[in-house]
Amino acid sequence: MYNGGKIVIGLLIFVGLVISPFLLKGDKATAKPDPKVDTPEILKMPVGERTCVEDKEYMKAEHMKMLNEWRDWVVRDGLNIYTSKAGKEYTMSLQNTCMKCHSNKSKFCDECHNYVGVKPYCWDCHIAPKEEG
Ligand code: HEC
Ligand code: HEC
Ligand code: HEC
Repeated sequence: MYNGGKIVIGLLIFVGLVISPFLLKGDKATAKPDPKVDTPEILKMPVGERTCVEDKEYMKAEHMKMLNEWRDWVVRDGLNIYTSKAGKEYTMSLQNTCMKCHSNKSKFCDECHNYVGVKPYCWDCHIAPKEEG
């Protein structure tokens, strides 16, 4: 009753089943972050005007620096209003400005931060927005 072919096929299927979760997982871990900008606050803005405080490329590269500056300006210099390059005014606040629009912290901030492995300690003190689920 010896049948080499069947055993080889059986083995291949077995090996495939054993490694498939790793292949699938590996795929997920390397997937690019996809920060979502579809919060109610952002959807309230007219299409075509759904922008951040500064343009997207600037925010992507400089938001950490901007947050540090905002903190210094508020805490050290007693300032409150930031005027963007486009001339729009924003109250300099992590909780009340950034997180008002980006109320989906886990699907936005964390989406990128988990990918690059940074864990800003801001939320030790600042209150993160309440999220569903
Ligand atoms: C008025 C609403 C609003 C506020 C306030 C706001 N954002 Fe944004 N943010 C947006 C929108 C809308 C986008 C998407 C812009 C685009 O796609 O052009 C965005 C994009 C970004 C991006 C780039 C995301 C990407 O996919 O590359 C970062 C980072 C960011 N915001 C961080 C911040 C931080 C930090 C603050 C506070 C300093 C802040 N935002 C305040 C609405 C806002
Ligand atoms: C498009 C991706 C992206 C999004 C969206 C994003 N960040 Fe970041 N953030 C990064 C990257 C990348 C770094 C690390 C930069 C470095 O180490 O040079 C970072 C670093 C930071 C830091 C500095 C942390 C440290 O330990 O150095 C803060 C603070 C921060 N982000 C706040 C926020 C907040 C608040 C939001 C959501 C409103 C946000 N970021 C959304 C990509 C993102
Ligand atoms: C040890 C507690 C603590 C930590 C950690 C902390 N902050 Fe703050 N932060 C404060 C306090 C207190 C104020 C002053 C609040 C005020 O004046 O209304 C403040 C003010 C700010 C402000 C200006 C006012 C406002 O309401 O947002 C910004 C911006 C800010 N912090 C950003 C950050 C960022 C970004 C991080 C993380 C990289 C961070 N903070 C971490 C305690 C903290």
